Amino acid sequence: MQQPRSRRRVRSTDTPTAAPCHDLAPDRQACLLERAQLQPVPSTLLIPLAARAHGGRYFPWLDCHDGVAKALLAQLGADVTATLDDLPTVLSVLWRTRAIKDAGRAFFAEHPQALGVNLGCGLTHHFQWLDTGANQWLDADLPEVMALRQPLLPPRAPRARHAEVDLAQPGWWKRLGLPSRSSAQPVLLVCEGVLMYLQPTQVHAVLAEFAQCAPPGSRIVLDVLTRQAVGHAARHPSVGPTGAEFCWGVGRMVELTTAHPRLRLLREQSAAEGYGWAGITLDALWRPWLGAPVYGVATLAVKD
Ligand SMILES: C[S@@+](CC[C@H](N)C(=O)[O-])C[C@H]1O[C@@H](n2cnc3c(N)ncnc32)[C@H](O)[C@@H]1O
Repeated sequence: MQQPRSRRRVRSTDTPTAAPCHDLAPDRQACLLERAQLQPVPSTLLIPLAARAHGGRYFPWLDCHDGVAKALLAQLGADVTATLDDLPTVLSVLWRTRAIKDAGRAFFAEHPQALGVNLGCGLTHHFQWLDTGANQWLDADLPEVMALRQPLLPPRAPRARHAEVDLAQPGWWKRLGLPSRSSAQPVLLVCEGVLMYLQPTQVHAVLAEFAQCAPPGSRIVLDVLTRQAVGHAARHPSVGPTGAEFCWGVGRMVELTTAHPRLRLLREQSAAEGYGWAGITLDALWRPWLGAPVYGVATLAVKD
């Protein structure tokens, strides 16, 4: 009997542009994913990748039309069935991808030659949507992730580059060679699906370093979980099996600005929007208790 769509096994070899593991040259035949031996937190990169690759089937109105995600999954030989069974997560990833695209397009419309940086990039390829022809892009993640990413998604444009970064180690702004505070061009940072895996003091330090170092007008777009989710990743259908834990969440969105006086909360969005009026109504009902969205996106700006 045919399985319902959300329960169908998806072993990602269904794209003609991809080279599945068994089609790779003999020296690369061991599945890339197995060879990468990712730790629990880095291994969560498969969740949003699966959502961007296949989520449009379930939520066509939120389809991000990612031009590379399906091929990447196929090359990795990844079985993403469990993630695609977790439809709320698939919806949240597609919704946040749209929020990030919109924020990025608005930023680069004002600053077409500026630099965009994706911190904890995993296997995202946001430059496919945000390349103005004159801007620059930097994708950065932990060394084990960049080692996996480099052969799969090498920077294609001379204006794009890769770097290793550990956001838990202060000094990352300088180590990444990002523009100084006196630079005329602001910078756009994206940090999605990352900060909830860091300790609260580490998140505070990341935001403080951004605010301290970034040129005026710079922005960071990041996603947040409610504080109620902290310590409960095991109950999450996609994150639970990875063994990663949620360590940071917010009680109120304005908390994000307490890390530094230069920080301003430009915009807050709730993923409840992705469910239409029913979601927006539920969000309004829960808000007095939670103080923040269950899951949302915040855009912070640096202002003097
Ligand atoms: C859920 S994945 C999200 C990946 C990507 N942002 C996306 O949306 O597809 C979490 C990512 O955070 C990265 N990450 C976790 N801790 C990090 C740290 N201390 N420094 C840099 N990246 C980190 C992981 O390596 C992983 O790629």
